[in-house]
Amino acid sequence: MQTITGTDTEKARHFLINGELVAIPTETVYGLAANALDENAVVKIFEAKNRPSFNPLIVHVGSWQAAQKYVQHIPAKAKLLAEKFTPGPLTFLLEKKSIIPDIVTAGSEKVAIRIPDHPLTLSLLQTLDFPLAAPSANPFGYISPTTAQHVLQNFAGKIPYILEGGAASIGLESTIIGFNENEQPLLYRSGGISIEAIEAVLNEKFLPAPTSPQKNPETSGQLESHYAPHTPLYTGDIDELKKQFAGKQMASISFTKHFEAIDTDKQFVLSGEGSLAEAARNLFAALRAIDTMNVEVILAEKFPDEGIGRAINDRLGRAQAKNKP
Ligand code: TXA
Ligand code: MG
Repeated sequence: MQTITGTDTEKARHFLINGELVAIPTETVYGLAANALDENAVVKIFEAKNRPSFNPLIVHVGSWQAAQKYVQHIPAKAKLLAEKFTPGPLTFLLEKKSIIPDIVTAGSEKVAIRIPDHPLTLSLLQTLDFPLAAPSANPFGYISPTTAQHVLQNFAGKIPYILEGGAASIGLESTIIGFNENEQPLLYRSGGISIEAIEAVLNEKFLPAPTSPQKNPETSGQLESHYAPHTPLYTGDIDELKKQFAGKQMASISFTKHFEAIDTDKQFVLSGEGSLAEAARNLFAALRAIDTMNVEVILAEKFPDEGIGRAINDRLGRAQAKNKP
């Protein structure tokens, strides 16, 4: 199969209507999209990503009016947050209607709904009479793509079309939230909208999501090992880690600082001026770049644990889990 990259939403629409996969740009990361109401099309997502079928998909819609066709009820708190933060990097777990196939939710009664904030994808969604199921467009467990080029690296020859929408402006996946039976907010995955910002709007603290991260996680964002480069990654104090790995080819991921004894071209300073938003935007591209270099270990520092810094630390933590020294 030939993979075309372009900005033609009409072409994208054509492939989607015919049950094919199309990579779509969003403000967080690129998604691998299919008609969410077409089980055969959705199966192709799981096959292309090599994704286990217990792992449900986010359903993307163009408006809350469209969302109402797919969910039973939108809690008042969800509406409040939706007004404030969507379109944007916030995903809501809500009771699904039966029109959403079980394969999309992996059998769960809840469906993850998101309105992405990207002009091309929003206009595409508005021309479709079905929603788009779309996980991040990376092989299962690997780093999410923030450019069309990243998608091509992993899916050339496997999907017909990549909708080119430039580099993702947020660069980390959406925050996923849900509500318990008392409509208290539950946090499933930290991401593009900070926990602090949501709690400020609700004037209420999150409760942790109900499942343990190791066993039967409710979301793959909760899997301990995920978002991982092929090169082993360690987080901590880079000056300390440097001593531990003396003699090895090292690359570093840091917030603002450079380090001695690591090659300059292998040092990825994510934001010289100390912006966590900029660091988030650069993280996944840096990890992918390092994976193409001749490097034996990646040393990553801990970022300030606030705002989107929490999501950065979350992703780095999961990237390292299977490589404990
Ligand atoms: O920013 C994003 O959310 C990107 C863009 C493409 O929208 N998508 C994304 O999808 O990150 P994915 O599949 O890589 O991560 C979605 C997470 C997974 O951890 C999945 O388990 C969880 O959402 N999820 C989806 N539907 C769910 C459901 N019904 N119940 C619980 N978790 C769900
Ligand atoms: Mg993903």
